[in-house]
Amino acid sequence: MVFPEYRPRRFRRNAQLRSLIRETRLSPEQFIYPLFIMPGKGKREEVSSMPGVFRMTVDQLGREAKELRSLGLNHVILFGLPETKDPVGSGAHAKDGIIQKAIKELKNKEPELMVTTDVCLCEYTSHGHCGVLINKQVDNDATLEILAQVALSHAKAGADIVAPSDMMDGRVAEIRGILDENDFDMVPVMSYAVKYASAFYGPFRDAAECAPQEGDRQGYQMDPANVREALREATLDVDEGADILMVKPAIAYLDIISRLREEFDLPIAAYQVSGEYAMIKAAGQKGWIDPDRVMAESLLAIHRAGADIIITYGAKEMARMLNG
Ligand code: PBG
Repeated sequence: MVFPEYRPRRFRRNAQLRSLIRETRLSPEQFIYPLFIMPGKGKREEVSSMPGVFRMTVDQLGREAKELRSLGLNHVILFGLPETKDPVGSGAHAKDGIIQKAIKELKNKEPELMVTTDVCLCEYTSHGHCGVLINKQVDNDATLEILAQVALSHAKAGADIVAPSDMMDGRVAEIRGILDENDFDMVPVMSYAVKYASAFYGPFRDAAECAPQEGDRQGYQMDPANVREALREATLDVDEGADILMVKPAIAYLDIISRLREEFDLPIAAYQVSGEYAMIKAAGQKGWIDPDRVMAESLLAIHRAGADIIITYGAKEMARMLNG
């Protein structure tokens, strides 16, 4: 059918007609909201490069959890700032570590809020790398055992989902193994399967104080140039027992999200990272863009590309927009 019989503008005439034929919709249920937990009491500190995002102490979590649930948000992912760091990241699996305490507090105050934990060492190591160093290199196999301990300690504290973000080879199998041995066979692994060595993580490294002291993460995170390698990484994680595959960052990697959606039948998650959020906020503060509309459009694009689940610092404002 061609013009004048077919006129695509017929359905653009008003909001009701547009929404009748809308192909992609966002819902607060698909978002995971990141929380940064810091030591101390009674504190909430805004992250300077991430307006509207706060680092908070454990005692603040009950109030935060209530607010999230009242917006229809059911999921958080936790990042911790430990009191002390060491070369092997011991704080990451300490029984009374910051994340372990945070999980217990959240489960105590708001049991229906689902808690995902980021499983990585970079916030806990004195050198800031995501694994242990041997001869100045991040040693893959030595790191695996520690990561497994971290995941287990999170599960013991009550985590609902564990999400390894370290990019060591073989970590999904290692984590699945230790969880199953300890009767946590119902705890899913959301793998940061395709995590690129990206400049978009800058503000997060300020927020979580985890920039590498020396060198960078290109020895373990992926080269932004690679698509086929992303499929190999995802295949490995599927074979090792991953339950959800994540792509990170999101907006600059929509092609990767879309490829994974086509090639795999697992749920796909995407992480709209700190730099993506910061750019929207900064341009908004300058009055150069409408930050709410750009946030909504970005999240819609990430979902349209194929992400079922979106981890985003914009979850609260997007939920408010969706709730009207
Ligand atoms: C830990 C981790 C990072 C992010 C999530 N988990 C930092 C990094 O890999 O450097 C980044 C998230 C963001 O930028 O919002 N490895």
